[in-house]
Amino acid sequence: MKIVYQGFTASGQKLIIRYPLARDLLQVWRYFNKLSAEKTFITYQGEKVSKKDEAQWLDKKIKDITQKKLVLLFVFIDGKLSGVSDITLKERVQKHIGTFGITLASTARGQGIGKILMSLIISQAQKKLPSLKTITLDCFANNQVALNLYKSLGFIEYGRLPKGLNYRDTLVDEISMYKPIE
Ligand SMILES: CC(C)(COP(=O)(O)OP(=O)(O)OC[C@H]1O[C@@H](n2cnc3c(N)ncnc32)[C@H](O)[C@@H]1OP(=O)(O)O)[C@@H](O)C(=O)NCCC(=O)NCCS
Repeated sequence: MKIVYQGFTASGQKLIIRYPLARDLLQVWRYFNKLSAEKTFITYQGEKVSKKDEAQWLDKKIKDITQKKLVLLFVFIDGKLSGVSDITLKERVQKHIGTFGITLASTARGQGIGKILMSLIISQAQKKLPSLKTITLDCFANNQVALNLYKSLGFIEYGRLPKGLNYRDTLVDEISMYKPIE
């Protein structure tokens, strides 16, 4: 079942990081809607996703993994889905560029799991996406924890769109970063 990491959290809970399976649907649907409702630093800010749309999303992701278009990892803490990260290749003249995304459930943050997950998704991308030369990401400028994490893993800022994102009814800058892959 394509487990890429097994260990324990700082508080001794069982930590498994693996590729997604079709049977994860209910968990990922609930996980996603909870994050959206939280209005954290993601593009969904309270919008709800239907179970049908989530099923299509998961189905497509699983197919795209087989077709080497992306890598996608799920984090389970004591069996509960608690994090998701992906690197997705762009197309045509940008097919050497992969865009990165990461989220953790609020209960899983601040314990080093983000760093483990991000290191794993990068190494999986290096192994499974042969055309990959550069990883890019976009981030809310007021998301200091994420910016710390990205800098610590070698991401470099290459752009800033002033007032590019709406964070809880305030316009904040959007920071764009990249990391070259050898
Ligand atoms: C951003 C996110 C993935 C980071 O994962 P995490 O597990 O919380 O982060 P880690 O514990 O691995 O810590 C990463 C870095 O941030 C620092 N950090 C962690 N929590 C922190 C806090 N509350 N305040 C300041 N710094 C913090 C750590 O010290 C670490 O820095 P280091 O590498 O210099 O030691 C996670 O917090 C999250 O999902 N947040 C909500 C969604 C989100 O912001 N997604 C990113 C969208 S761009």
